[in-house]
Amino acid sequence: MKTKIQRINPEMFQDEELSEACEILRRKGLVAFPTETVYGLGGDAMHPEAAAKIYAAKGRPSDNPLIIHIAGIDDLYNIVAEVPEKAKKLAEAFWPGPLTMIFRKQRQVPYSTTGGLDTVAVRMPSHPVAMELIRQSGVYIAAPSANTSGRPSPTKAEHVIEDLDGRIDMILDGGMVGIGLESTIIDLSDKEPVILRPGYVTRNMLEDVVGEVQVDPAVANRELNPNIVAKAPGMKYRHYAPKGQLTIVEGESDAVVEKINALVAEHLKEGMKVAVIATEETKDQYAQGVVCSIGSRKNEGSIAAGLYDMLREMDHLGAQYIYAESFENDSLGQAIMNRMLKAAGYHLIKV
Ligand code: TXA
Ligand code: MG
Repeated sequence: MKTKIQRINPEMFQDEELSEACEILRRKGLVAFPTETVYGLGGDAMHPEAAAKIYAAKGRPSDNPLIIHIAGIDDLYNIVAEVPEKAKKLAEAFWPGPLTMIFRKQRQVPYSTTGGLDTVAVRMPSHPVAMELIRQSGVYIAAPSANTSGRPSPTKAEHVIEDLDGRIDMILDGGMVGIGLESTIIDLSDKEPVILRPGYVTRNMLEDVVGEVQVDPAVANRELNPNIVAKAPGMKYRHYAPKGQLTIVEGESDAVVEKINALVAEHLKEGMKVAVIATEETKDQYAQGVVCSIGSRKNEGSIAAGLYDMLREMDHLGAQYIYAESFENDSLGQAIMNRMLKAAGYHLIKV
């Protein structure tokens, strides 16, 4: 299959520029498109045929459900069985935006989209291209992140091309996304709201709107614990992983630097290719290896935005061992650490 790559300027585009993409979606084809979080791989959520193509293109296990993207609140009532009061409040506060909510599904939502579950994940994205694509196509778009299963999510079109060129009909290239980490997922299908995946919308932000919110134990988990099974099926898989072995070193800054320097020196002696994911604050303290700064600790937003690109860069460098500093496990740092721990397969050294 030849993948058509079409540029689009999110700040200024004509409706007609999306005509072909809409046409592809209506005939159950696949279009990768930018959202404010990461690029999505879109297909018609209400047709099992499209979902099957999504799973095939990504190499994704078909028990891992997809998020349905909608453009207006009315659409929600067409796909979910019930909208709890708390969900209404959250929608008002955070939609359109980087929040996904889980509801009990209506019968016509196919099990192929929900991975066999009776619940369905729904999100209203704020990215103008995503919004207009849903609106203009008239399709509820099922969209996982547009990466090969297991690889870091794509934050620019080049990442999508790297993974899916030749496997999907079209890629809408809207440049770099803003947030860079996938949406926060909150389950509202049960009595108590539970965060299944941390993201840009933090627990505090959610609690300000609906009161107490639980966090799935698998989210806060710092070790790979076989006794804790993630409620979001996708969270149980190894994810976001670079090809080299990533290890996160946690502790007081000077001790972390010292430890990483020692580990790098050891691997270099063995003739390995080693990289360090440092921060602006520490990058000059690393003596050897390929040292990359992921940004300043004063701006966690920019660290989140650049994380996946950095993990992919590690592959381009051919790094066999990668050492990264850790981040605070609160607010946006919680989402950053959650993704980094998964990318590292929970290799964490405390100093
Ligand atoms: O920001 C995002 O959410 C991006 C953009 C494209 O919108 N999408 C995304 O999709 O990250 P994906 O498929 O990579 O991640 C969806 C996650 C998976 O972990 C999946 O298991 C979980 O959502 N999920 C989907 N439906 C669910 C359900 N009914 N119950 C529990 N978890 C669900
Ligand atoms: Mg994904």
